[in-house]
Amino acid sequence: MLWIPGVDEIPLSILDVKENSAVSVAVKRVGEATEALHKKKAREIIGVRGPFGNSFTLKRGRVLMVGGGTGNIPLFFLAKTLVKEKVKITFVTGAKAREELLFLEELYAQLGRENVLAATEDGSYGFKGLATQPLEALLMREKFDMVYACGPEQMVQKVFNLTEKYGISFEASLERLMRCAIGLCGSCVIGKYRVCRDGPVFTAEKLSTVKGEFGVFKRDLDGKKIPIE
Ligand SMILES: Cc1cc2nc3c(=O)[nH]c(=O)nc-3n(C[C@H](O)[C@H](O)[C@H](O)COP(=O)(O)OP(=O)(O)OC[C@H]3O[C@@H](n4cnc5c(N)ncnc54)[C@H](O)[C@@H]3O)c2cc1C
Ligand code: FES
Repeated sequence: MLWIPGVDEIPLSILDVKENSAVSVAVKRVGEATEALHKKKAREIIGVRGPFGNSFTLKRGRVLMVGGGTGNIPLFFLAKTLVKEKVKITFVTGAKAREELLFLEELYAQLGRENVLAATEDGSYGFKGLATQPLEALLMREKFDMVYACGPEQMVQKVFNLTEKYGISFEASLERLMRCAIGLCGSCVIGKYRVCRDGPVFTAEKLSTVKGEFGVFKRDLDGKKIPIE
């Protein structure tokens, strides 16, 4: 949880941890807090709480990662970790347009160009369409031991449905509105789970128990259910 004094505190994923323990994040400017963060200069003060929640299971063998938008960020960190363990990774990364495809060159360098499949909704780079579209062909062609996903929830839900169909283990990191991050306020609830405490990473088994809300509803600031568009 990153605190921007006088503005707000927001949840962010860890992008990387350097050898000197410096932690980096990548932030998309979408509203008040992220805008304020973008305007910060070196040596200005911010606050950090955490890290909170659980993490992805580190799987061996052959894995597939599917990231959309800022959802790519925790998957980069995961990919970097698994590559060191010689895990074979295929990465499908999607964004609205080329300029929003994050860290593509770094991904190519880490995983090899042939293992990265980029998709843009406007067709400005790679496959034209949603990241989920080339997935089914990939799942029919190749065998994976695990699929990891993070991104817009309807995208994650489509990936989940495909892994159910093909019987592959699945984990996804979910996004919800977060305020306390320690399980008290309820703003991050999905079914019987709190994303901040029980997640943000959920297995297919857990997600299948909250199908009525996963990809369908989230909560607003008043705790009311609102449809996910
Ligand atoms: C576990 C987790 C990890 C995240 N990791 C990252 C990250 O690494 N990098 C990054 O840029 N963003 C990440 N986010 C999203 C980030 O927290 C929100 O974009 C941020 O809180 C928006 O704050 P704001 O004040 O700038 O925008 P607001 O003024 O609060 O909202 C602006 C717009 O963003 C939407 N929004 C607000 N909060 C969220 C949210 N939690 N998830 C999705 N949309 C939201 C609002 O609906 C609104 O449309 C993460 C969210 C979660 C829950
Ligand atoms: S953010 Fe408060 S319960 Fe999860």
